[in-house]
Amino acid sequence: MYFDALAPTYDADFTATPLARALRGRVWARLDAVFAPEAALLELACGTGEDARHLAQRGVRVTATDQSAGMLAAARAKTAGLPVKLASLDLAAPALSPEIQAGAPYAGVLSNFGGLNALPRHRALAEFLAPLVPAGGRLVLVVMGRWCAWEIGWHLLHWQPRRAFRRLNARGSTSQAGGADFTVYYPSTAALQRDFAPHFQPARVWSLGLWLPPTYLEPLTRRRWFPFRLVAALDRRVPWPPLADHTVYEFVRRA
Ligand SMILES: C[S@@+](CC[C@H](N)C(=O)[O-])C[C@H]1O[C@@H](n2cnc3c(N)ncnc32)[C@H](O)[C@@H]1O
Repeated sequence: MYFDALAPTYDADFTATPLARALRGRVWARLDAVFAPEAALLELACGTGEDARHLAQRGVRVTATDQSAGMLAAARAKTAGLPVKLASLDLAAPALSPEIQAGAPYAGVLSNFGGLNALPRHRALAEFLAPLVPAGGRLVLVVMGRWCAWEIGWHLLHWQPRRAFRRLNARGSTSQAGGADFTVYYPSTAALQRDFAPHFQPARVWSLGLWLPPTYLEPLTRRRWFPFRLVAALDRRVPWPPLADHTVYEFVRRA
Protein backbone atom coordinates (compact mmCIF):
# COMPACT_ATOMS: atom_id res chain seq x y z
CA MET A 1 0.00 0.00 0.00
CA TYR A 2 1.29 3.48 -0.85
CA PHE A 3 1.59 4.55 2.82
CA ASP A 4 3.92 1.62 3.61
CA ALA A 5 6.85 3.52 2.14
CA LEU A 6 6.13 6.54 4.35
CA ALA A 7 5.90 4.58 7.60
CA PRO A 8 9.62 4.46 8.51
CA THR A 9 10.05 8.24 8.26
CA TYR A 10 6.51 9.44 9.09
CA ASP A 11 7.31 10.32 12.70
CA ALA A 12 10.52 12.19 11.89
CA ASP A 13 8.98 13.99 8.90
CA PHE A 14 5.64 14.82 10.51
CA THR A 15 4.86 13.64 14.04
CA ALA A 16 7.93 15.19 15.66
CA THR A 17 7.63 18.62 14.04
CA PRO A 18 6.56 21.55 16.22
CA LEU A 19 3.57 22.17 13.93
CA ALA A 20 2.27 18.59 14.18
CA ARG A 21 2.87 18.57 17.94
CA ALA A 22 0.88 21.78 18.38
CA LEU A 23 -2.05 20.47 16.32
CA ARG A 24 -2.02 16.97 17.82
CA GLY A 25 -1.79 18.42 21.33
CA ARG A 26 -5.14 20.12 20.79
CA VAL A 27 -6.74 16.89 19.59
CA TRP A 28 -5.34 15.10 22.65
CA ALA A 29 -6.73 17.76 25.00
CA ARG A 30 -10.16 17.14 23.51
CA LEU A 31 -9.84 13.35 23.58
CA ASP A 32 -8.73 13.47 27.21
CA ALA A 33 -11.81 15.56 28.04
CA VAL A 34 -14.32 13.26 26.35
CA PHE A 35 -12.92 9.73 26.82
CA ALA A 36 -12.52 8.44 30.36
CA PRO A 37 -9.77 5.98 31.28
CA GLU A 38 -11.02 2.41 30.71
CA ALA A 39 -13.22 3.52 27.79
CA ALA A 40 -12.97 1.36 24.66
CA LEU A 41 -12.03 3.30 21.55
CA LEU A 42 -11.77 2.31 17.90
CA GLU A 43 -9.16 4.24 15.93
CA LEU A 44 -9.38 4.44 12.12
CA ALA A 45 -6.25 5.06 9.98
CA CYS A 46 -4.04 5.10 13.09
CA GLY A 47 -0.76 5.59 11.23
CA THR A 48 2.26 4.97 13.47
CA GLY A 49 0.12 4.79 16.62
CA GLU A 50 0.96 8.16 18.14
CA ASP A 51 -2.61 8.78 19.32
CA ALA A 52 -3.12 5.14 20.36
CA ARG A 53 -0.05 5.34 22.60
CA HIS A 54 -1.19 8.60 24.20
CA LEU A 55 -4.68 7.25 24.88
CA ALA A 56 -3.47 3.88 26.14
CA GLN A 57 -1.03 5.56 28.53
CA ARG A 58 -4.13 7.14 30.10
CA GLY A 59 -5.78 3.73 30.41
CA VAL A 60 -8.07 3.95 27.35
CA ARG A 61 -8.41 0.52 25.67
CA VAL A 62 -7.64 1.18 22.02
CA THR A 63 -8.27 -0.95 18.96
CA ALA A 64 -6.13 0.81 16.37
CA THR A 65 -6.63 0.06 12.66
CA ASP A 66 -5.00 1.02 9.38
CA GLN A 67 -4.78 -0.36 5.87
CA SER A 68 -0.99 -0.05 5.68
CA ALA A 69 1.02 -2.99 7.02
CA GLY A 70 4.02 -0.66 7.42
CA MET A 71 2.03 1.78 9.56
CA LEU A 72 0.62 -1.07 11.66
CA ALA A 73 4.14 -2.43 12.25
CA ALA A 74 5.30 0.99 13.44
CA ALA A 75 2.22 1.28 15.69
CA ARG A 76 2.86 -2.20 17.11
CA ALA A 77 6.42 -1.25 18.08
CA LYS A 78 5.29 2.06 19.58
CA THR A 79 2.47 0.61 21.69
CA ALA A 80 4.15 -2.58 22.95
CA GLY A 81 3.12 -3.30 26.55
CA LEU A 82 0.10 -0.96 26.39
CA PRO A 83 -3.62 -1.88 26.14
CA VAL A 84 -3.67 -1.49 22.35
CA LYS A 85 -4.94 -4.08 19.86
CA LEU A 86 -3.99 -3.60 16.21
CA ALA A 87 -5.98 -4.68 13.20
CA SER A 88 -5.94 -4.22 9.46
CA LEU A 89 -8.94 -2.26 8.17
CA ASP A 90 -9.49 -0.73 4.74
CA LEU A 91 -11.88 2.18 5.20
CA ALA A 92 -12.97 1.85 1.57
CA ALA A 93 -14.27 -1.68 2.19
CA PRO A 94 -14.70 -1.94 5.97
CA ALA A 95 -15.14 -5.47 7.27
CA LEU A 96 -15.35 -6.83 10.80
CA SER A 97 -12.25 -8.69 11.99
CA PRO A 98 -12.03 -10.72 15.23
CA GLU A 99 -9.86 -7.95 16.78
CA ILE A 100 -12.41 -5.22 15.99
CA GLN A 101 -15.29 -7.37 17.20
CA ALA A 102 -13.46 -8.25 20.43
CA GLY A 103 -13.05 -4.58 21.37
CA ALA A 104 -16.74 -3.67 20.83
CA PRO A 105 -18.87 -1.92 22.00
CA TYR A 106 -16.86 1.28 21.57
CA ALA A 107 -17.49 4.42 23.61
CA GLY A 108 -15.70 6.33 20.90
CA VAL A 109 -14.19 6.35 17.43
CA LEU A 110 -11.20 8.46 16.45
CA SER A 111 -9.66 9.27 13.11
CA ASN A 112 -6.92 11.87 13.19
CA PHE A 113 -5.22 13.86 10.44
CA GLY A 114 -7.03 12.98 7.28
CA GLY A 115 -7.52 9.21 7.30
CA LEU A 116 -11.12 9.79 6.18
CA ASN A 117 -9.91 11.85 3.21
CA ALA A 118 -9.12 8.52 1.51
CA LEU A 119 -12.87 8.13 0.83
CA PRO A 120 -15.10 10.03 -1.60
CA ARG A 121 -18.21 9.24 0.48
CA HIS A 122 -18.68 8.11 4.08
CA ARG A 123 -22.14 6.52 4.14
CA ALA A 124 -20.80 2.93 4.06
CA LEU A 125 -18.29 3.71 6.83
CA ALA A 126 -21.08 5.18 9.00
CA GLU A 127 -23.14 2.01 8.41
CA PHE A 128 -20.15 -0.09 9.45
CA LEU A 129 -19.59 1.90 12.65
CA ALA A 130 -23.23 2.12 13.76
CA PRO A 131 -23.54 -1.39 15.28
CA LEU A 132 -20.17 -1.03 17.03
CA VAL A 133 -21.05 2.18 18.90
CA PRO A 134 -23.91 2.26 21.42
CA ALA A 135 -26.21 5.30 21.85
CA GLY A 136 -24.29 8.26 23.27
CA GLY A 137 -20.92 7.06 21.90
CA ARG A 138 -18.81 9.80 20.34
CA LEU A 139 -16.96 10.06 17.04
CA VAL A 140 -14.01 12.49 16.77
CA LEU A 141 -13.00 12.78 13.12
CA VAL A 142 -10.23 15.11 11.96
CA VAL A 143 -10.78 15.66 8.24
CA MET A 144 -9.07 17.92 5.72
CA GLY A 145 -11.58 20.54 4.64
CA ARG A 146 -12.66 21.76 1.22
CA TRP A 147 -11.63 25.40 1.50
CA CYS A 148 -8.25 26.04 3.09
CA ALA A 149 -7.49 29.78 3.28
CA TRP A 150 -3.75 29.21 3.68
CA GLU A 151 -3.54 26.86 0.72
CA ILE A 152 -5.57 29.12 -1.57
CA GLY A 153 -3.58 32.21 -0.59
CA TRP A 154 -0.19 30.50 -0.80
CA HIS A 155 -0.69 28.96 -4.23
CA LEU A 156 -2.33 32.05 -5.72
CA LEU A 157 0.68 34.03 -4.50
CA HIS A 158 2.88 31.55 -6.34
CA TRP A 159 0.81 31.65 -9.55
CA GLN A 160 -0.51 28.12 -9.08
CA PRO A 161 -4.30 28.58 -9.39
CA ARG A 162 -4.98 24.88 -10.08
CA ARG A 163 -3.23 23.88 -6.85
CA ALA A 164 -4.93 26.71 -4.99
CA PHE A 165 -8.36 25.24 -5.73
CA ARG A 166 -7.51 21.52 -6.08
CA ARG A 167 -9.64 20.60 -3.06
CA LEU A 168 -12.80 21.63 -4.90
CA ASN A 169 -12.47 18.87 -7.49
CA ALA A 170 -15.27 16.39 -6.70
CA ARG A 171 -13.18 13.59 -8.25
CA GLY A 172 -10.45 14.24 -5.70
CA SER A 173 -6.91 15.43 -5.99
CA THR A 174 -3.95 13.21 -6.87
CA SER A 175 -1.09 13.03 -4.37
CA GLN A 176 2.08 10.95 -4.24
CA ALA A 177 3.34 8.64 -1.51
CA GLY A 178 6.11 6.09 -1.79
CA GLY A 179 6.37 6.63 -5.54
CA ALA A 180 2.68 5.81 -6.12
CA ASP A 181 -0.25 8.07 -6.94
CA PHE A 182 -3.30 8.08 -4.71
CA THR A 183 -6.46 10.16 -4.57
CA VAL A 184 -7.40 12.43 -1.70
CA TYR A 185 -11.01 13.65 -1.36
CA TYR A 186 -12.09 16.80 0.44
CA PRO A 187 -15.70 16.45 1.63
CA SER A 188 -17.87 19.47 2.38
CA THR A 189 -19.33 19.73 5.87
CA ALA A 190 -22.81 19.16 4.45
CA ALA A 191 -21.79 16.01 2.57
CA LEU A 192 -19.94 14.52 5.54
CA GLN A 193 -22.75 15.24 7.98
CA ARG A 194 -25.32 13.88 5.51
CA ASP A 195 -23.43 10.58 5.25
CA PHE A 196 -23.28 10.12 9.03
CA ALA A 197 -26.77 11.54 9.71
CA PRO A 198 -28.82 8.30 9.74
CA HIS A 199 -26.90 7.04 12.79
CA PHE A 200 -24.84 9.92 14.18
CA GLN A 201 -25.97 13.37 15.35
CA PRO A 202 -23.53 16.27 14.74
CA ALA A 203 -22.37 17.48 18.16
CA ARG A 204 -19.50 19.90 17.56
CA VAL A 205 -17.43 21.23 14.67
CA TRP A 206 -14.10 22.96 15.29
CA SER A 207 -10.96 23.74 13.36
CA LEU A 208 -7.25 23.03 13.27
CA GLY A 209 -5.04 25.03 10.97
CA LEU A 210 -6.92 28.21 10.13
CA TRP A 211 -4.01 30.47 11.18
CA LEU A 212 -1.33 27.78 11.25
CA PRO A 213 -0.43 26.64 7.71
CA PRO A 214 -1.08 23.19 6.21
CA THR A 215 1.44 20.61 7.36
CA TYR A 216 3.30 20.49 4.00
CA LEU A 217 4.30 24.14 4.64
CA GLU A 218 5.76 23.13 8.01
CA PRO A 219 9.33 24.32 7.16
CA LEU A 220 7.93 27.83 6.90
CA THR A 221 6.87 27.72 10.55
CA ARG A 222 10.49 27.04 11.62
CA ARG A 223 11.84 30.19 10.00
CA ARG A 224 13.19 32.69 12.52
CA TRP A 225 10.69 35.35 11.54
CA PHE A 226 7.61 33.13 11.84
CA PRO A 227 5.70 34.09 15.04
CA PHE A 228 4.82 30.49 15.86
CA ARG A 229 3.50 31.01 19.39
CA LEU A 230 1.31 33.93 18.39
CA VAL A 231 -0.11 32.10 15.36
CA ALA A 232 -0.65 28.91 17.38
CA ALA A 233 -2.53 30.94 20.01
CA LEU A 234 -4.69 32.54 17.30
CA ASP A 235 -5.37 29.10 15.85
CA ARG A 236 -6.63 27.95 19.25
CA ARG A 237 -8.65 31.02 20.09
CA VAL A 238 -10.04 32.16 16.74
CA PRO A 239 -11.27 29.02 14.98
CA TRP A 240 -13.28 29.05 11.79
CA PRO A 241 -13.84 25.59 10.30
CA PRO A 242 -15.04 26.69 6.83
CA LEU A 243 -11.56 27.97 5.89
CA ALA A 244 -9.24 25.76 7.94
CA ASP A 245 -6.88 23.00 6.78
CA HIS A 246 -8.51 20.44 9.08
CA THR A 247 -12.04 20.37 10.44
CA VAL A 248 -12.79 18.32 13.53
CA TYR A 249 -16.23 16.74 13.39
CA GLU A 250 -17.71 15.30 16.54
CA PHE A 251 -20.81 13.15 16.28
CA VAL A 252 -22.88 11.37 18.92
CA ARG A 253 -24.51 8.00 18.20
CA ARG A 254 -28.26 8.45 18.03
CA ALA A 255 -30.52 6.45 20.35
C1 LIG B 1 -1.92 11.27 7.20
S1 LIG B 1 -1.88 9.66 7.88
C2 LIG B 1 -2.60 9.92 9.47
C3 LIG B 1 -2.12 8.89 10.45
C4 LIG B 1 -2.51 9.09 11.91
N1 LIG B 1 -3.96 9.09 12.10
C5 LIG B 1 -1.91 10.32 12.52
O1 LIG B 1 -2.63 11.05 13.19
O2 LIG B 1 -0.70 10.53 12.39
C6 LIG B 1 -3.16 8.84 6.99
C7 LIG B 1 -3.29 7.37 7.36
O3 LIG B 1 -4.41 6.85 6.64
C8 LIG B 1 -4.12 5.53 6.25
N2 LIG B 1 -5.02 5.17 5.14
C9 LIG B 1 -5.03 5.70 3.90
N3 LIG B 1 -6.00 5.12 3.16
C10 LIG B 1 -6.62 4.22 3.98
C11 LIG B 1 -7.69 3.30 3.81
N4 LIG B 1 -8.34 3.19 2.65
N5 LIG B 1 -8.06 2.54 4.86
C12 LIG B 1 -7.41 2.63 6.05
N6 LIG B 1 -6.38 3.46 6.27
C13 LIG B 1 -5.99 4.25 5.25
C14 LIG B 1 -2.66 5.56 5.90
O4 LIG B 1 -2.07 4.28 5.89
C15 LIG B 1 -2.10 6.49 6.97
O5 LIG B 1 -1.68 5.76 8.09
